[in-house]
Amino acid sequence: MFDKHDSYLRQTQAYWDNKATTAKSDAERVEWSQRSQRMRFETFLMTHDLQNRSVLDVGCGVADFRTHLQRRNVDCEYVGFDISPEMIRHCKERFPDLRFESGNFLTWEPGRSFDYTVAIGIHNIKVDGAYDVLESTTRKQFELSRIAAHVSLLTDRFHGFAPHIQAWKVEDIMAMALAITPYVVIRHDYLPNDFSITLYRDPLIDRCNDLLLD
Ligand SMILES: C[S@@+](CC[C@H](N)C(=O)[O-])C[C@H]1O[C@@H](n2cnc3c(N)ncnc32)[C@H](O)[C@@H]1O
Repeated sequence: MFDKHDSYLRQTQAYWDNKATTAKSDAERVEWSQRSQRMRFETFLMTHDLQNRSVLDVGCGVADFRTHLQRRNVDCEYVGFDISPEMIRHCKERFPDLRFESGNFLTWEPGRSFDYTVAIGIHNIKVDGAYDVLESTTRKQFELSRIAAHVSLLTDRFHGFAPHIQAWKVEDIMAMALAITPYVVIRHDYLPNDFSITLYRDPLIDRCNDLLLD
């Protein structure tokens, strides 16, 4: 099922399968506090209207983003993907009518595109080859996105993470994203330990036709 990123993906799957089966609560399963997780979701939703749009949630965990969309009364087409079959088992119990897939995202062929793809906190565990997988995953997200690909990561400006946690240098991630598209927005202001990067297909002038009112 895995290819050249084999070792990284196997270790990551084992880590998250273990979390999914041994954790006592959904918050523990995805290692988030409710407050910080909701802030990540809200940061994206503050500037993106998902109503009647389609969204692919890469590394969906237990599909808390979908729950949050319901909380906000956002009616959209949601598809969840996760490397961990155990996480996906929880998702299917929670949302039996929705589409969830598990496997290697880098070789997955959904046969369609989405308005948005999001990957919220999926590149947070230190494993060899992490940068390569982050870059390839973001590139694939972008290929599958009609409007934008959104990624949230932990920032190395914050000190105090546990030793197994992977934080990223925002300047490196900006350079990585600019090699994919020139239309990039970074937010490094919404939590002390986190930042997001959104990669757009088109510049703002073409995305928001109602901006330039006479
Ligand atoms: C910290 S949890 C975040 C879950 C969810 N995005 C959220 O915000 O609640 C990280 C999730 O990403 C998944 N994941 C990690 N690396 C992945 C990869 N390369 N492809 C797909 N899923 C991945 C893990 O299995 C885990 O469920």
